[in-house]
Amino acid sequence: MDISVAIENIAAWETDAIVLNLFEGVTVPGGATGAVDAALNGQVRDLIDTGDFTGKFKQIAVLYPRGGISAKRLLLVGLGKREEFTLDRVRQVSAAAARHARGLGVEQLATVVHGGGVGGLDVSDAAQAVVEGAILGTYRFTPYKSGEDDDNNELEGITLVEFDAAKENDIENGSDAGRIIAEATCLARDLGSHPGNEMTPAILAGRAESMARETGLRCEIFDEGRIASEGMRTIQAVAQGSAQPPRFIVLEHEGDDPEAAPAVLIGKGITFDSGGISIKGSEGMWDMKFDMGGAAAVIGAMQAVARLDLPVRTIGLVAASENMPGSRALKPGDIIRSMLGKTIEIRSTDAEGRLVLADAVAYAARYNPSAAIDLATLSGACVIALGHEASGLFSNDDGLAAEIAAAGERTGEIAWRLPVLDGHREEMKSDVADLKNTGGRAGGAITGAAFIEAFVQDFPWAHLDIAGTAWASKDLPHVPKGGTGVGVRLLVDLLRNKENAPGP
Ligand code: BES
Ligand code: MN
Ligand code: ZN
Repeated sequence: MDISVAIENIAAWETDAIVLNLFEGVTVPGGATGAVDAALNGQVRDLIDTGDFTGKFKQIAVLYPRGGISAKRLLLVGLGKREEFTLDRVRQVSAAAARHARGLGVEQLATVVHGGGVGGLDVSDAAQAVVEGAILGTYRFTPYKSGEDDDNNELEGITLVEFDAAKENDIENGSDAGRIIAEATCLARDLGSHPGNEMTPAILAGRAESMARETGLRCEIFDEGRIASEGMRTIQAVAQGSAQPPRFIVLEHEGDDPEAAPAVLIGKGITFDSGGISIKGSEGMWDMKFDMGGAAAVIGAMQAVARLDLPVRTIGLVAASENMPGSRALKPGDIIRSMLGKTIEIRSTDAEGRLVLADAVAYAARYNPSAAIDLATLSGACVIALGHEASGLFSNDDGLAAEIAAAGERTGEIAWRLPVLDGHREEMKSDVADLKNTGGRAGGAITGAAFIEAFVQDFPWAHLDIAGTAWASKDLPHVPKGGTGVGVRLLVDLLRNKENAPGP
């Protein structure tokens, strides 16, 4: 999608449709909406006066201007109550309008920067949210659709039209960032939505490598031999039941100071989770193709970090494997020794995510991270705890947890902190090894986090359990069904708000 910015009176803009907005309860529209209403002899006020349009959040009305303005259509979108107005609502409104327009066959759209005028938001942030909403809302995953009977309308271009030339720079900057961040989210969505047969560890690594080549990131892929020689026994153990060899992906963005203590992002990349010998029920097993949602978020975030050329040195690590019940597979009761030397009793081969993360998190220590954040579709228990509305957040550092929660608020990717207490750590001790890989049913998301924490060597660490948020089974305006790319926007927002930590 082409995105551009123009300083112009939107009433004079020739295009397929323009998008204007209205807060709920406003009876006399102002700003651009008021100006266009005047040009249309009060047609917008008619919509309000008849009660046909109230400005309710995401409500949409379409008017046909008959020459009153230069555009062929006017889409009026409701911003909802002024006191409930947020950046995330801008994103959703922009998404809803773009999707509606595409449904009408609109190819070129012009829009005002919702919230950048009377809405009182920072103009650059608002422009970013408008662009993110439009790209995220019109995203489709179509590589396996032959086309014929599907909805093939394409929205080709969006112009942000602003009357006040003083805002041009801010709108340009916000819009550039919005495009980069939304496209990175779409990459993560694509990776998450591909089925297991088309997204093996080797294919995932190949996608990371080509992304790195295009963006100038440093990239190293460990094959099964290198994984063995690095001593990443937990990754080997999970992979040994599959015909697909594992991969460990290392991405690096230098930032302003290649010696600085980096932020390290770590993704669970289980390209299909059958459960292994502790095999899952067949009901719904197909959706375990998105068990690499954490990896997708890390790869997407690294693409955005590179394209935005953020000053922060950032490392992305992905542990990629299948979890299958082949004849060489890991078995319940097996005991393995992790890279750090801690021994693990396997109670369930279906608790494989924490296993691959154990060695990935241990590997992160060599970077002396200023912070390490892992993202994983780790536990069904987290879905029971928080539903699909929020990711679980766990951390050994209150400052880092607060920064992540704040980034979640700003991006609408809510992260809700849960505690890790001594009792939870106790729960993960084994009678025969240092640790076991499952606790009881109680507090299952937390005991999963407690297990990973045991491999964190004295650096600020956070774990995001995205089991409930990495896949959407129902459409939201800016999150269509399928892989959501959750985590990309949160991570990038976090890193954009972070100064480079001083080097060692
Ligand atoms: N990938 C699953 C968790 C999951 C469940 C993600 C539902 C997304 C939606 C994970 O590997 C798993 O199987 N976890 C087990 C852990 C248990 C054996 C301790 C679970 O949640 O049942
Ligand atoms: Mn599992
Ligand atoms: Zn899993």
